[in-house]
Amino acid sequence: MPARRWRLRVALAALAVALAGGLAWQRALPGRDDTFVTPAADAAEPRFPASFLWGVATAGTQIEVGQASDWAAFERDVLAHGRFAAGTALGTTVPGHIRDFGRWSAQVRAAKTGFDTRHAADLAQAAAMGINAFRISIEWARLFPRAGMAQPSSAGIAYYRQLLAQMRRNHITPLVTLFHYVSPEWFFAPDATGRRGWERADAMEHWQRYVTAVAENFVPDVTLWCTLNEPMVSLYNGYVEGSYPPLEQRADIAAAAEVYAGLLRAHAIAYRTLHAVAAARHADISVGIAQNINAFAPLRNGAPLDRLLARYVDQGWNWDFPDAIASGRLRIANTAIDREIPGLAGSQDFIGINYYMRVYVRGDVFHPDAPQILLHDPQAPAEPRNDLGWTVYPHGLYTTLARAAARYGKPVYILENGTADAADDDRGRQRYLAAHVREMWLALHQEKVDLRGYFHWSYIDNFEWTEGFDARFGLVAVDYEHDFKRTPRPSAGLYAAIIGAGGWTADLARRYPDAVP
Ligand code: FCB
Repeated sequence: MPARRWRLRVALAALAVALAGGLAWQRALPGRDDTFVTPAADAAEPRFPASFLWGVATAGTQIEVGQASDWAAFERDVLAHGRFAAGTALGTTVPGHIRDFGRWSAQVRAAKTGFDTRHAADLAQAAAMGINAFRISIEWARLFPRAGMAQPSSAGIAYYRQLLAQMRRNHITPLVTLFHYVSPEWFFAPDATGRRGWERADAMEHWQRYVTAVAENFVPDVTLWCTLNEPMVSLYNGYVEGSYPPLEQRADIAAAAEVYAGLLRAHAIAYRTLHAVAAARHADISVGIAQNINAFAPLRNGAPLDRLLARYVDQGWNWDFPDAIASGRLRIANTAIDREIPGLAGSQDFIGINYYMRVYVRGDVFHPDAPQILLHDPQAPAEPRNDLGWTVYPHGLYTTLARAAARYGKPVYILENGTADAADDDRGRQRYLAAHVREMWLALHQEKVDLRGYFHWSYIDNFEWTEGFDARFGLVAVDYEHDFKRTPRPSAGLYAAIIGAGGWTADLARRYPDAVP
């Protein structure tokens, strides 16, 4: 069903009227804010609450041995057809490809980072840095590798049990994600009506079985839960861009509304199931999602269409999904889609945010329904960007935190934030880390955001989806040519110092001049 664009058309008409009326649109539509780092109102030194979680974030498919998943099936297909997108710049992988995947040995491709056998040392090293929280995901395909299993694999349960035991031993609080883009391969086999994945008629039965198994085995050893990682990325990359399984290229997100509704239903089921098991065990848990939030800015401040579209994209990408959880209704911005999802309303205990970058929006008056999305402003070549071409924009974290807190009135966690920087001295990562820690302190101090924790992406270099192994996000480098050897980068020392000092202090700025943003 093609999306109806009536809301955008009404807004365009209103815009035309406003234009005719003078400069009123400038007040009505937020403009581009080029503040790079937020000014501090006073000289207070950071003091994060003693209970603050200083964490790192990871995901199963990116660090663990491959499972019988839809992603592993995609990897096999990429290998069989040699789709490695060689020659294109980092950050521009072609849909259907995994960058340079064929370059690596079968062992590296399968074991990803060797975390399965090295996590005891990894966690001990993290604890030595002062890290007190660690985000992992449980792989659905590791618990239910085959169709029709009534009970989870005991080997799968045992793996996560001992991983969690290692965290406990190191006084590290686990935060566990249930769905980080990847599901069992069989889940994507067509059902009797030809539907696959989240669109299958029995999708929720399968999901319920998985979630029940996780809740019964791991509540309350785990008290912090993230049901879905970046559902908008799942939708967009999987069903519009076609770069993640199931590699579909539909007209727009609204054309995947059944998947959208499926993800919301899956969240509601997981929220209710985890809480039911926790209540029966008299345990207190917190459940939310990890929402990918970009700082969308109009490319041209003087172009009313850029400003209007930046606002629409911000609503559709950043807020529609958490708004749906708050209201219990799936509404897709700029379409007529509006339907109730049973059990959904109010099913988030915290707001989980993955924040990385600034993104520009440019409108075309001849195609107002198709905003152009740019990772950088061609007129601002000096703006800092990372190895993937993502524009670094610390102030956007501050505004995101303030907006999320005001919108939902809930505690907030940053569940991912980090940057791709492969350099041995990783100055880009040091600056990024210091600047973003400073922003979150200011949001806490100046905006009174109830911020409970920060999970840096990532602890070790890992498999970055379609970017393969070349995008390096680790505080700790992984040498894929030498048995996954770990070497902390300077930013690992900086993170330890920040944790030790309780934030980005003036003293640290003196001691780490490379890191001053
Ligand atoms: C996020 C993903 C995470 C990782 C980082 C770099 O969008 O959630 O798995 O790939 O980006």
